Amino acid sequence: MSDHLTIVDHPLVQHKLTLMRDMRTPSAQFRQLLREISLFLTYEATRDLPLTTKIIETPMTEMEAPTLKGKKLALVSILRAGNGMLDGVLDCIPSARVGFVGLYRDEATLTPVQYYSKLPQGMDGRAALVVDPMLATGNSSAAAIDLVKQSGCRDIRFVCLLAAPEGVARMRQAHPDVRIFTGALDTKLNEQGYIVPGLGDAGDRMFGTK
Ligand code: URA
Repeated sequence: MSDHLTIVDHPLVQHKLTLMRDMRTPSAQFRQLLREISLFLTYEATRDLPLTTKIIETPMTEMEAPTLKGKKLALVSILRAGNGMLDGVLDCIPSARVGFVGLYRDEATLTPVQYYSKLPQGMDGRAALVVDPMLATGNSSAAAIDLVKQSGCRDIRFVCLLAAPEGVARMRQAHPDVRIFTGALDTKLNEQGYIVPGLGDAGDRMFGTK
């Protein structure tokens, strides 16, 4: 597997992903599963975060103990489906600062249109996790990462539930420096830009729309 793409093939992730793909799974369970998987994906995506040490006192003795180095992480949700991953990521990194990028997909051209952006202060000194469950064409993700880069951020990781080969290729071309962490790499996109076998529209599955 390339350094650019990490498939988190942990048995718990794969089991939960199967439940999410199943069209009979109701929205409440779908949201809960997405939260749980997001925690595992975050665990992998943050594996190489730099550490420093600080002196603390345990009830027994003083010690030099490891602690995360640098400013608090930024978590950037691509609206609306990215919000389904927020709680799971925050379960893992409660102190993360949270930003939002609003992009909708023009269904005719499949290109992203930005309607909202609010990022944490001081992005140039932070590592960022950009989250969106579905890496389909990669157009929205690449555009969201353009915005994050414009804020000065230079350490960006992209975390998704499912990826299509087309989306991975688009991201590799647009942002070769951004590592992708996904629960699975699916077969293809269909003519409507949906991932196959996929799980359908993640936002609709989450919120019971459609
Ligand atoms: N967005 C979704 O929610 N599902 C897909 O399959 C592709 C993009």
